[in-house]
Amino acid sequence: MTTLITGGAGYIGSHTALALRDAGKPVVILDDISTGFRQLLPEGIPFVEGDIGDSQLLQDLFQRYEIKSVMHFAARSLVGQSMKEPGTYFLANSAKTATLIQAMVQNNVGHFILSSTAAVYGEPTAIPIDENHVLQPTNPYGLSKKIIEDMLPWFEKAHGLKWISLRYFNAAGADPQGRSGEIHDPETHLIPNILKVALEEKEALQVFGNDYPTPDGTCIRDYVHVTDLAKAHMQALDFLLHSAREEKASGTINLGSGSGYSVLEVIETARRITGHPIPVQWCPRRPGDPAILVASNKKAKEKLNWNPKHTNLESIIQTAWDYLG
Ligand code: UFG
Repeated sequence: MTTLITGGAGYIGSHTALALRDAGKPVVILDDISTGFRQLLPEGIPFVEGDIGDSQLLQDLFQRYEIKSVMHFAARSLVGQSMKEPGTYFLANSAKTATLIQAMVQNNVGHFILSSTAAVYGEPTAIPIDENHVLQPTNPYGLSKKIIEDMLPWFEKAHGLKWISLRYFNAAGADPQGRSGEIHDPETHLIPNILKVALEEKEALQVFGNDYPTPDGTCIRDYVHVTDLAKAHMQALDFLLHSAREEKASGTINLGSGSGYSVLEVIETARRITGHPIPVQWCPRRPGDPAILVASNKKAKEKLNWNPKHTNLESIIQTAWDYLG
């Protein structure tokens, strides 16, 4: 019952590969190292360097490793870049994922877990956001993932594919044992950028906007620890594997902590943890940033029995800081 992890050299994929390995589950990683990092590849897991859009490679992999399920992390994920290069996102995310799933159904690989995103919702009309919230992505990144979600029921209907799309809110933190952490190039995310200031790699943290309709004027986000995300992937796959044939197991599930913190609250917490003053430079709003994104995680708790462990911001920032320090 080997699981293929695409994007296992990336932030969330590498943490999930570690979680599966720790649980004694056989795993293979496929990654083209275009946005991932070799240093994040967990030791002891077979790694194949290649492209998820290469059908022949996929077929060889599925057969050679007797793959029965796929967790699909490989993707482009920069909202700002997607506004400038929408085609890159539709091709790398939507089109290549169609190739991947087509190869799966042709090779009887029947279980699929998708890395999706809160960006499929767009500007929320209600907080907390549940899975029935209208989907109106406001950027090509979110749309590229929504397109995949729209494809999945058709593969299910025609080929019996079982799937779960996990819509992450703000993934953050690092493996508490220090084996993996958050690396991106370029880095656009809040917590790693704050920690770069604490490490004196940057002079000040640019804060995008102080005039949002929130208590302190900065955006509120739902930060969810990456090892809790990794656990949710294992639980989602188990759920699919153990569901009865006639059971309606497939669907979309939010992954968030259910709590929101403002940018200033995150900075304040990081100041306490790092002991660094973390100077701030006030900047205009970043285009496309919604004021508040907080998940309802009721469905994940009920359906997957998901019980996030790192629910406070301290533990999220502490693990990220320990990894870098
Ligand atoms: N921010 C700053 N300064 C920075 C970086 C971020 O002020 O240097 C602010 C942003 O403006 C935003 C908040 O911090 O208000 C969080 O920003 P992130 O870039 O860390 O995360 P986002 O909420 O923009 O994006 C995350 C994921 C996306 C996903 C999106 C869903 O990274 O992949 O949530 O809405 F699409």
